[in-house]
Amino acid sequence: MDAIGLITVSQLSTSPLQAQVDVLALTAFGDASKDGVFKSIDQALGGALSEVAKSESFEGKTGQLLSLHTHGKIPAKRVVVVGAGVRNDFTNPHVRDVTAALAQHANKVGATSVAFVLPALGAAREALLVQMAVEGLFLGTYKFGRYMTSDDSKKLPSLKAFGVISDIKGKKPNASQSKAFQAAVERGSTIAMAINHARDLINEPAAVVTPAALAADAQAIAKRHKGKITVTVLDPKKCSELGMGMFLAVGQGSDQEARFIHMTYKPAKKAKKKVCFVGKGVTFDSGGYSLKPSQAMEDMKIDMSGAAAVISAMDAIATLGSEYEIHAIAACCENLVSGRAYKLGDVLTSMDGTTVEINNTDAEGRLTLGDAITYARSKVQPDEIFDFATLTGACVIALGPYTAGVMSDHEGLVRNWMSTADRTGEDMWRLPLLSRLREQLKSPIADMRNTGDRNGGAITAGLFLKTFAKDTPWVHVDIAGPASTSSSRPSQPKGGTGFAVATIIEYATRH
Ligand code: BES
Ligand code: MN
Ligand code: ZN
Repeated sequence: MDAIGLITVSQLSTSPLQAQVDVLALTAFGDASKDGVFKSIDQALGGALSEVAKSESFEGKTGQLLSLHTHGKIPAKRVVVVGAGVRNDFTNPHVRDVTAALAQHANKVGATSVAFVLPALGAAREALLVQMAVEGLFLGTYKFGRYMTSDDSKKLPSLKAFGVISDIKGKKPNASQSKAFQAAVERGSTIAMAINHARDLINEPAAVVTPAALAADAQAIAKRHKGKITVTVLDPKKCSELGMGMFLAVGQGSDQEARFIHMTYKPAKKAKKKVCFVGKGVTFDSGGYSLKPSQAMEDMKIDMSGAAAVISAMDAIATLGSEYEIHAIAACCENLVSGRAYKLGDVLTSMDGTTVEINNTDAEGRLTLGDAITYARSKVQPDEIFDFATLTGACVIALGPYTAGVMSDHEGLVRNWMSTADRTGEDMWRLPLLSRLREQLKSPIADMRNTGDRNGGAITAGLFLKTFAKDTPWVHVDIAGPASTSSSRPSQPKGGTGFAVATIIEYATRH
């Protein structure tokens, strides 16, 4: 998997006009001409900055970029103004996009050092702003390039040093300011690395990221955090002993053996509560005998994005520390067609004893998750369960490609989750778990069937899972849309996005 070129981030105590860097960068909220820093730089450049802004009709919109040489008029070789949109809308994803676009530009022009003038949004927001800026830096320089063979694509990024100027008067930060800055940098880079790791797992072909490969990845993470994270991997024989009839049926058509992964993080002190994060880990979803058409199957290596999120988040959680006992659980398998594959009309017995008639082998995620949730509920006995799954196309129809569907009957818990997502800037929206729709899951020969009709497909999938969560406080997050993207933004190239990693980490580590 790709390593990102390391960039050191530091706090600069020089004023913008003194910074000796390849790129001096500042943000513009709309019209920049009234901004103090902009004016001082413009003045030092003899009005060249405002002139270029005018001729290139720079309006300070998010992602817009203005770049010019200083020709020795100030120590910085180049000045870059990055559009940041409307000041009041300068939310987390936009902050990330600004430094992401900046880092990409710096690499494009071969700059090794950048000094970034942090927009003044008040001392209270400064640490968060630094964290988001650092996240953007690492998220924006992510590239899944290991299968590109041209020399150009092998070129290492030039950017090595990223300095932040947070006090334009050029005063030295005091001890507590330095500490807060360092903590924000560590937090931002740790989170971004975990997101990029999830992206790698998602972007790798299904031939590489098999259930066994995901298990090996979880073990490698546990090894890096010896004493904090332990991992148990169950093979099909062990899963069969536990009665995971639904999970095993989905995986039985593949030559890649299924793996049930269970990672545990324990805090040094007595844990305040136990939280389970469950991820869907279908490493390839052909649909099974309810075979997907080729176009719908093309991208189905991403069907393990939930597993990638919960596994990758554990790495960051162990680095940052949590007061909770955290469990990451992923039932990993491949949904293929073969002489051994499960069929329509089969009746499966789940780990909790519920029998399920299969009327669509493409509704496989809920089968794997149902047993994973039963395992979590009965073996871990957690205070809370969250699951993350690329579960239904219906959720994408309902909410579009950028928003996750959140379903839960536990008001307090789901509100807490939604406000956490609000802080990280991951777009999530609640859907109702309307019990009347359960009618669709009635079977004439078993306790239930695995699929309803087209209408309300995201919700009937949620209702199916609720059967297994029972009374344990539980939140279901359908990430079928945002798990991968075909339209990039600076902090998010095409492909796997690592969606949910940031909110899982935030939930686990900010109490
Ligand atoms: N993995 C798919 C859902 C999916 C679709 C994820 C598009 C990402 C993008 C899931 O296993 C699936 O096939 N769901 C079916 C459910 C149906 C058979 C009830 C679907 O959405 O069509
Ligand atoms: Mn499917
Ligand atoms: Zn699937």
